[in-house]
Amino acid sequence: MKVFVTGGIGYIGSHTVVELQQNGFEVVIADNLCNSNIKVLDGIEQITGVRPEFEKIDLADAEKVQDFFSRHRDVVAVIHFAALKAVGESVQKPLEYYKNNLNSLMNVITAMREFGVKNLVFSSSCTVYGQADILPVTEQTPRKQAESPYGNTKAMCEDIMRDVAKVEKEMNLLALRYFNPIGAHPSSCIGELPNGVPNNLIPYLTQTVAGIREQLSVFGDDYNTPDGSAIRDYIDVVDLARAHVVAIRRLLDGKNKANYEYFNIGTGTGLSVLELIHAFERATGEKVNYKIVGRRAGDIEKVWADTTLANRELGWKASVPIEETLANVWKWQKHLMNK
Ligand code: NAD
Ligand code: UD1
Repeated sequence: MKVFVTGGIGYIGSHTVVELQQNGFEVVIADNLCNSNIKVLDGIEQITGVRPEFEKIDLADAEKVQDFFSRHRDVVAVIHFAALKAVGESVQKPLEYYKNNLNSLMNVITAMREFGVKNLVFSSSCTVYGQADILPVTEQTPRKQAESPYGNTKAMCEDIMRDVAKVEKEMNLLALRYFNPIGAHPSSCIGELPNGVPNNLIPYLTQTVAGIREQLSVFGDDYNTPDGSAIRDYIDVVDLARAHVVAIRRLLDGKNKANYEYFNIGTGTGLSVLELIHAFERATGEKVNYKIVGRRAGDIEKVWADTTLANRELGWKASVPIEETLANVWKWQKHLMNK
């Protein structure tokens, strides 16, 4: 069975393509490579022995998307990763983010409807919860107004899926709300490839330990948390990739309870920035040069997932221990430097 993976050359997409292929699915990828490198295909092939089909396409181009679906009539499901994802950049370039992220989803769903492809899994984010009043967040936790255009595109894409599902009864749409994806494939054949100065904690941390950056700044130690630094739910990227395989199976097997569903995908455990740094040091034996600085604008204090629904309905649970994730990500950083 063939799955169409948009944005499949990117960080989470590439790990998902590996899991799909290892679970017997055929994959065709479309990506415009705006935030990824075509060499990722080599990494996927090295791990799985199979080079997935690939087409360089801008999903925001409706005609190209129609043409793609008209030529791939054997696709049974779509996983839509393709999006711009830099929170800070989205504040500077809101139109680019709305155009890219909203149009690409609408183009994909429109073409699916036209060509009779029923099943879609979409990459959403815990950013839709904002700073929740009660933790951990469940799927019933109310969404809050997004802090950034990026976050807003995720909320709007969810709303589009919900509204479409009401009238397109044949379609099965499912959103996964990722918490904080980190890590790399244990083979070190694929991992995160941040462009320029990383915004996210883990790539900044590993680049600091590698000597590429001088010092990691810990944004704030005056939050209302046990050690004062902010808390997140860090989910291993391979665990996250596996969640997509079970989500696709749920739709293909008709096990979904509604034709629009959404699930939290996290570990269920919150870790503070300082706890994560110390876990990295324990896992790798490396010392992290960091200093405490002021809070970063737009950051929330704490969030972690209640994953009961995903555990029960998808039969999915995060399984990679954080030390293993951090050891893998360090191995990946060293691999990048030796290339
Ligand atoms: P990524 O940037 O590594 O991958 C996204 C891929 O989509 C890239 O390869 C990029 O070239 C491609 N792309 C973007 N716009 C495109 C377009 N118009 N046409 C074709 N290809 C296009 O990002 P990622 O971390 O792998 O994220 C994947 C998805 O998960 C995104 O939707 C992102 O918003 C979402 N998400 C990511 C995180 C995270 O922390 N990484 C958290 C929550 C949600
Ligand atoms: C952010 C986005 C989220 C997006 C995710 C992936 C916000 C509010 N959320 O998550 O929507 O899905 O990125 O792109 O922007 N930190 C440091 N020093 C650093 C970098 C980060 O202390 O150099 C801290 C942050 O303050 C935060 C934690 O580490 O407490 C994680 O930060 P990061 O990896 O950037 O992810 P989020 O901000 O949680």
